[in-house]
Amino acid sequence: MSASSPVPKLPTGVAGLDEMLGGGFPSGHVVLLTGLPGTGKTCLALQFLLEGTRRGEKTVFLSLEEDVPQLLDTARQFGWPVDEAVKGGLLKVLRLDPKETRQSLHRIQGELGHELASLGAKRIAVDSVSLLNMLAEDEPARRLTLFALAGACRASGATTVLTAEADPRHPEVSRDGLSEYVADGVVVLGYRTAVDGHRVGLALRVLKMRRTPHVRTVQPYAIGANGLTVDAKAVDLGG
Ligand SMILES: Nc1ncnc2c1ncn2[C@@H]1O[C@H](COP(=O)(O)OP(=O)(O)O)[C@@H](O)[C@H]1O
Ligand SMILES: [Mg+2]
Repeated sequence: MSASSPVPKLPTGVAGLDEMLGGGFPSGHVVLLTGLPGTGKTCLALQFLLEGTRRGEKTVFLSLEEDVPQLLDTARQFGWPVDEAVKGGLLKVLRLDPKETRQSLHRIQGELGHELASLGAKRIAVDSVSLLNMLAEDEPARRLTLFALAGACRASGATTVLTAEADPRHPEVSRDGLSEYVADGVVVLGYRTAVDGHRVGLALRVLKMRRTPHVRTVQPYAIGANGLTVDAKAVDLGG
């Protein structure tokens, strides 16, 4: 990459995170959002798509976790215009039910790539890849499925966020320990814990982001009535 041709960026919908990334997620990247339950992965994935729809971009939410009505309700609670986005054809929610093992596996390894490409989406969210583990019987099959899914997203030309549960013993790493390897970028969402063991807030950091400079410090964030907000200026004192 030459200095005169920076990678185009897609604003994430979170101003402070864009500031840390010099504008947003690099176009065409597969970005992993990893964190313990409740750290806002689903929220950030939705926020990223809604930012796209606000700009007139087509987006796809591939949900393994929540049913479609449930997911739309989550977005409505943040006051985001999901119903308009769905009606206007800018947001498509696809459900991939991990309980329908054979069907879902076939779809990932077969038509999903074509499905995603034909939708012409500029942004894709997959929530969460941790549930792919339910589809695969052993480690090689798990790996194949994850790679097929990430490959289908990448080949569609969209910019993708994958969410993954963090390993409770090592919360900066995904529980499957694999998702990092298919991703061009990793954002770790986590709890801040005070010395007395109490959880005192949330903080995130950009662990890696290929082909672009980014802030490496841990920055506090909050989940409020309108979604995630990141304080890109606060100096983190540890904890
Ligand atoms: N409407 C809301 N207003 C404020 N905070 C919310 C709202 N909805 C969810 N949250 C916060 O977001 C958290 C869940 O975020 P979520 O994106 O589901 O996390 P994850 O996907 O990482 O498990 C909840 O625990 C809650 O603290
Ligand atoms: Mg979630």
